[in-house]
Amino acid sequence: MPVNMKPLETYRDDFTYRNSPQAIARFPFPFPEDQYMYSVNIEPAVSRDPGSVFEHLFDVDEHYVSEMAERALVLEKDPRRCLVMPHMAPAAWDLVEAIMTHLARDYPEHFSLTRDGDQWTWENHPLDICQRFTFGDPATLPCEPLEYITRQMQGDFAMLDQRDGDLYMDAGMVTCPADWSLAFDAGMSFKQWHAPVPMAPQMGVFDRALKYLLNIQVGAPVRRLNWTMTINPRLDTSSETLHEWGHERSLVTSDNVAGLVHLRVELQVMARMPRSNALMFSIRTYLISLEELVTNPAWAQRLHRVLRDLPDAIADYKGLTSYRQTVVDYLAQFDREAVPARAA
Ligand code: HEM
Repeated sequence: MPVNMKPLETYRDDFTYRNSPQAIARFPFPFPEDQYMYSVNIEPAVSRDPGSVFEHLFDVDEHYVSEMAERALVLEKDPRRCLVMPHMAPAAWDLVEAIMTHLARDYPEHFSLTRDGDQWTWENHPLDICQRFTFGDPATLPCEPLEYITRQMQGDFAMLDQRDGDLYMDAGMVTCPADWSLAFDAGMSFKQWHAPVPMAPQMGVFDRALKYLLNIQVGAPVRRLNWTMTINPRLDTSSETLHEWGHERSLVTSDNVAGLVHLRVELQVMARMPRSNALMFSIRTYLISLEELVTNPAWAQRLHRVLRDLPDAIADYKGLTSYRQTVVDYLAQFDREAVPARAA
C-alpha cells in the first residue's frame, strides 16, 4: 500500500501535527484488555495485517518528512542526542544496511538501494537524497553512519552492545524519547537504565525480558508496544528539554483536554545485528489526540477503563497524575456502563 506523505507539519510551537483518517485507522492502540499492567509483552516481529504498522520491520507513514525535519531541529540544538561509542562502529554499519535494505524493499516508490560490491547508491526521494558511498568507509558519507541513516528513519534507535551476559546502551539516536535521555543512560546496563520503572522489577519483568533479549537470533526480530501520554503532539519529551514541556501538564482543563492530551504509543522492535552481534532497539512513536482517538468508540471506552483503574505508581511514573482525573472524566461519556454510574 503506497504511503502518501503529508506536507510539513510541526511537533512544537504551533503544533500543526494531525492524523488523517487513514492514520487514525492504523494507529497501534495498545490495550488488549480493560486493565493495564506491566508484562513481558514480546511477540515475534512477523509481517501481519497489510497496511498496518505491523506490516514492515520499519514503519514509514504520512508524517515521515515532518518527523525528519523535527529530528534535524533537535540535533541542531543538541548534537548529543546521537552517540556512537568507538566499539559500536560495526553496529552502526549493521543499522545502515538494515534500514536501507528494508526501506528499499518495502517502500520502493520512495527509496532505492543499488549495491555493487561495497559501492552502494542510496536514493531517498522524499528527502531528495542521492548518495553514493563505500559500505564500511565512513569517510564516504556526509556524517557518522548511524547518524546518517537515522536522520532518514522515523523513531528513535538504541544500539546495545551484548557482553558479560548483559546489554549496554553504547550507541543511539534519541530525539523523541518519553522522558529519558540517551546521554544520561549511555554506557548503562539493562537493569541500570530501567531502574526508575516502578513495580516491574519486583514482578520479575526485567529478569525475564533480559534473558529473552540475550537469546534473540539474527533473522528472528521481536516487538512489543509501550505507551504513555503527552501534552500537545510533542515528539521531543526528553529529560534534556523537560523545562520546555513539563509545565504543560498543568494546562489541561475540561475544556481543552480532548485537543491537548495525546496517547503516545511506542512500537519497539528488537533485532540482532549480523556483523556486530549488537541488539537493535527501535522505538517508533505514534501520537494521537483524544479527539482523534474517540472517533473509535471501542478505543474511547477501553482507554477510559484503563486510565480509571491504572495503579497510582504507574500513573505517577508516566507523569499522568496531575491530569489523569480530567481525562477520565472526559472519557466517561464514551463508556456506556460508566455514564449512569457517574450520574447516580
Ligand atoms: C522503560 C529502554 C526493553 C519494559 C524504559 C526506559 C528506557 C527503556 C530508556 C525509560 C526508563 C526511564 O524512566 O528512565 C529499553 C531498551 C530495551 C528495553 C533499550 C531493549 C533492550 C524492554 C523490554 C521490556 C521493557 C523487553 C519488557 C518486556 C519497560 C517498561 C518500562 C520501560 C515496563 C516503563 C515504561 C512506562 O511505563 O512508560 N525502557 N527497554 N523494556 N521499559 Fe524498557
